[in-house]
Amino acid sequence: MRLLPSMLLSLGVTLSVGSALARAQPPFMKNMYTGPVVLPQVETRAPAEDTIAVDGVRVLDRIESQHLPNPVPNTAESRASGERMYDVYCAVCHGATGQGDGQIAEHFTRMPNLALPYVQDYTDGWIYAIIRQGGRSMPPFANSMSVAERWSLVHYVKTFEVERTQ
Ligand code: HEC
Repeated sequence: MRLLPSMLLSLGVTLSVGSALARAQPPFMKNMYTGPVVLPQVETRAPAEDTIAVDGVRVLDRIESQHLPNPVPNTAESRASGERMYDVYCAVCHGATGQGDGQIAEHFTRMPNLALPYVQDYTDGWIYAIIRQGGRSMPPFANSMSVAERWSLVHYVKTFEVERTQ
């Protein structure tokens, strides 16, 4: 067992050289130690931009949104912006003047007439949430328009009754 001390020594040298190598790796040799991982006892990385923390601000549902005030002023300009959105995204189903007679309306069991008083009585926040989330057959438009464009569209939807009674 004379060899034991020298064996231990060489084992020690191997281990320490090995771990030094693992720490000082050239950039093309990625490993779990030097990679961009969160190591134990180290602070987590900052969340990616535009993400919402689990306990952060939530996207409101339709009920919660119903009393949101419309932050976009009701002007000819905002209604014109809403009209552009409507013509692009909504008219194909709800019809050019909201009567529920768009080109593909017949393929749905029910295509609401947006000029009817019960729709016109909806609060701005309620219509806003419908546009954002969609419905059973209606697709969501959360990713198609900016927040301001959606609120402008609400102003435009609210012009339908006026046009209908003219
Ligand atoms: C693919 C067809 C389709 C498109 C596009 C569409 N909708 Fe709808 N929408 C529906 C259907 C169908 C309903 C009835 C509820 C359901 O089944 O989702 C509805 C319901 C609604 C309602 C509620 C009416 C009610 O009876 O309570 C509103 C308001 C509305 N849509 C507005 C819009 C607006 C504004 C757009 C454009 C951003 C739009 N919709 C785009 C199909 C569509």
